[in-house]
Amino acid sequence: MKIGIVGSINVDFVTVAKRNPSVGETIVGETFRVVMGGKGANVAIAIGRLGGSVTMFGAVGDDDFGKKAIVNFKENNVGVDTIVALKNESTGSASITVAEGNNTIIVIGGANDKVDEKFIKSFEKQLLACDIIGTQLEIDPSAALWLSRFARKNGKKFVFNRSPDKKYKPEIIDNADILIVNEIEINELGGEGALLKHPNKLILTEGANGVRFYDGNKMVHVPAPKVKVVDTVGAGDTFMGALIVKMSEGATLFDAIKFAAVAASLKCTKLGAQTAMPTRAEVEAKI
Ligand code: RIB
Repeated sequence: MKIGIVGSINVDFVTVAKRNPSVGETIVGETFRVVMGGKGANVAIAIGRLGGSVTMFGAVGDDDFGKKAIVNFKENNVGVDTIVALKNESTGSASITVAEGNNTIIVIGGANDKVDEKFIKSFEKQLLACDIIGTQLEIDPSAALWLSRFARKNGKKFVFNRSPDKKYKPEIIDNADILIVNEIEINELGGEGALLKHPNKLILTEGANGVRFYDGNKMVHVPAPKVKVVDTVGAGDTFMGALIVKMSEGATLFDAIKFAAVAASLKCTKLGAQTAMPTRAEVEAKI
């Protein structure tokens, strides 16, 4: 099955420190790295690395980071014909601090903010060639809404990750086949009770506690393997990518989630979003 990921493409500026500074305080950190990221790009790279057939839809700026992002996609088996380098725009960026076993992120949308309904509509033909379409909200939410309608109308599977925190039309959720939320995001759907309302669709990721969903008869808990956590940035994106890969291979939802939970936990053992994503062999060795 062919997969299309519509989403953000960022360059991540990652600072590692022992602790977070207080407001007004300057501290000395440990390391600094510039790596490729962005929620959409991370999902696509996870899929490419795990052996899925994937094309990325999105935008970069006309700068060196944009060029590097495209090379990076190619190196990870992600199709790039539907990525546009926009004139006079900068590639999206994320300033990330990893400290005290957690992270904080400030994102600047840049070219990603131009990925809206009009932008994505222009790729209708290429989207028709996809069987599964995945997206999130690090682009203009009008793109996610249009995609959700497009997927429903054309019989495509639509996977939506309700992240980051942005206003969006609830219709996107109605149209989704798979909706991925975390412990905070589920509150806006009415809390954990929402799982019962969306059997085999709403996937609640709970970090080290694993994943839960309702299978129509019972609540199912898929534990996350225990690992020594170095950096959780991109773990959710790895989960989504791995889940989609297994969906594209016809796996059951349970098996797809199990595979994805292992992939996401392995990502957490290394620094960086994409740089830490596991290969297929690494995930299968832990199943
Ligand atoms: O989900 C992780 C991603 O969020 C990072 O790669 C960063 O780019 C931000 O968009």
